[in-house]
Amino acid sequence: MAKIKCNLNINGKNKTVNIHEDKPLIFVIRDELGLIGTKLGCGLGQCGSCAVLIEGEKKNSCNILAKDYQNCKITTIEGLQTDKGLNAVQEAFKHFNAAQCGYCTSGIIISLSSVFLKKHDPTKNEILSCLEGQLCRCGSHASVMKAIDKLKAS
Ligand code: FES
Ligand code: FES
Repeated sequence: MAKIKCNLNINGKNKTVNIHEDKPLIFVIRDELGLIGTKLGCGLGQCGSCAVLIEGEKKNSCNILAKDYQNCKITTIEGLQTDKGLNAVQEAFKHFNAAQCGYCTSGIIISLSSVFLKKHDPTKNEILSCLEGQLCRCGSHASVMKAIDKLKAS
């Protein structure tokens, strides 16, 4: 299959990569751009470890093609930091050490950020629905919920 020139906007920077047109977004993010905070789990759109923000909305990056998201604003875990450092979700996770192996963690932080970046005090339903599809095989849920409680209280 021939390669195409693909223009992406990742973490506020424009990047052009030459890729096969059937290349999933996650492989461009990790292999072409070196942003390895986004993790490949199932590769089937079922675990959420590969989640990124596209125009502020959470999307799994393993089962979508990079070429279809040209010129969209894409944010990975590396792009969540502000000028002041970690964002509020990242700070809360750090405070409660809300990870075990950490493989699922960037996807969960991305999911929560999709809600907390839009709304200072989202409802419990909004938070729980953003976490749908985010799997953790280590059982970090209790510390994740503590981090969420801290976010809601701040
Ligand atoms: S790796 Fe993308 S949803 Fe599991
Ligand atoms: S902390 Fe290991 S999969 Fe969630």
